[in-house]
Order: sequence, then C-alpha cells, then structure tokens
Amino acid sequence: MNKSRQSLIAGNWKMNMSVAEGCALAQQIVSQAATVSCELLLCPPAPLLGFVMAETNGSEVQLGSQDCHFNDAGAHTGDTSAKLLADIGCGYVILGHSERRADHGETDQQVAAKVTAAWRNQLTAIICIGETESQRDAGKTLSVVRAQIAGSIPPGATGANTVIAYEPVWAIGSGKVPSVNDVTKIHAETRTAFAEAAGAGEAELVRILYGGSLKPENASEFLALEDVDGGLIGGASLKAQDFISIASSCP
Ligand code: PGA
Repeated sequence: MNKSRQSLIAGNWKMNMSVAEGCALAQQIVSQAATVSCELLLCPPAPLLGFVMAETNGSEVQLGSQDCHFNDAGAHTGDTSAKLLADIGCGYVILGHSERRADHGETDQQVAAKVTAAWRNQLTAIICIGETESQRDAGKTLSVVRAQIAGSIPPGATGANTVIAYEPVWAIGSGKVPSVNDVTKIHAETRTAFAEAAGAGEAELVRILYGGSLKPENASEFLALEDVDGGLIGGASLKAQDFISIASSCP
C-alpha cells in the first residue's frame, strides 16, 4: 500500500448467506470495525442489502452490490438499477466480476455501460479484471489486463469514482495465488494503464485491489505491496474472524 491511499477491504459474499446468517456476519464485522484502519465494504446478494444495511447503519462499514443494470429504470426483469442501489444507501457496486463475465457473457462494452450507470448515480465502481489460466499460460496476462482496462473503463474515470480489482480467474476460490513478484508487476502495469486512460494524477489516487484466494495466512505479503491498496475477498469474507484478520493485515 501507499499511505496516500486508504486501503479498502471488500467482502464479496457472492450467492451465499441467509437473512439470519448475513445479519449475524454483518453484526460481528460492525462490532470489530473500529479495530482496523482500512475502509470496510460488504457486498451481499441484492435481496440482503436492506437487512445488512440495518446492521451497518451508523457504522463506518460501507455497503455495495455485486452488479447493476446500465439503465436507471425500465423493462428489465430481474435486474437492479444503480439508481435504486444508491437510493437504498449503497456506496459501491462490483462490476465485471469474472463470474458475471463467464456466467452471463458480460463483455467489456457492457461492463463500461454499467460503470457509466454507477457513476451517474454517485456509486463508486469496483471494476474487475484478470486473466484465465490459459491466457496466463500463453503469456498473455499483461495484454489481457490492458485490454480489459481499455475496454471496461469509460472516459471520466477518477481515483474517487473507480476502484480496480485485479483478480486472476484461476486464483478465485482455488486456493492458488500468483507470486508476489507477478502481483507487483501486474498492479504497477494496471496503474500505468489507468494513467493512460485517466491521467497520472488520478492514477496516483485510484485504489487497485488484489482478489483471488486471499486469506489471513497470505494477506500481509500482498497487502504490503506498493500498488496493492486492499483486497476483494470471496470465501474468507464469509467468516467475520477471517475478514477482520485480513483487514488487520493492512499496513
Ligand atoms: P475468493 O474470491 O476470495 O473466494 O477467491 C474472490 C472473488 O471472486 O472476488
């Protein structure tokens, strides 16, 4: 991390948790939030947002969604607008997660349209990028990441309205992680690519998270790196103790 950027530890609950489980988890995290210096963000499944909000209200813990539609309203059965997410009190939305790109065929172009919708509604967009295992094996990691940044981030990005999450697809939920050297190199390259899109000043401010099998046991070595400004946590965000332990690893 760089001291001029406040670290962000975000929990991506994915399609997990009942109402009772989600409320209990949020309660435990809220009760320990004052023990960490980073910003904490919870991203539960959309139907749980209101319940979790009741637990985080009045605390420093932020709330975000895992997706949004690119329109603010209309005939889009099953979708949720950024406008409504902002209305209920979300501050963030995760966009272009590799599971959405894979399960729903989301393209960079669609992700960019959703990012625009998020910004239009004063939500900070957490834009996910990352290579698959075969792309990595073919030595294409940096070109894939660069292309995703160019395609998924529309004009107008700033360090305040955007967070980037580098999540190698092969590391998500697998227990495998890239080397510290690779993360160092890819995050630096990500910041350079963001500078080309948004200018050097905004690139100094934008937070770049690492995601993919981040755990209490490996968090400190990644979170200590100059261009790693926090983490996007899946599995380990479902246990308050693990989530807070990762957050405590922020230097
Ligand atoms: P993981 O998921 O921590 O379970 O690997 C990370 C993510 O998909 O955001």
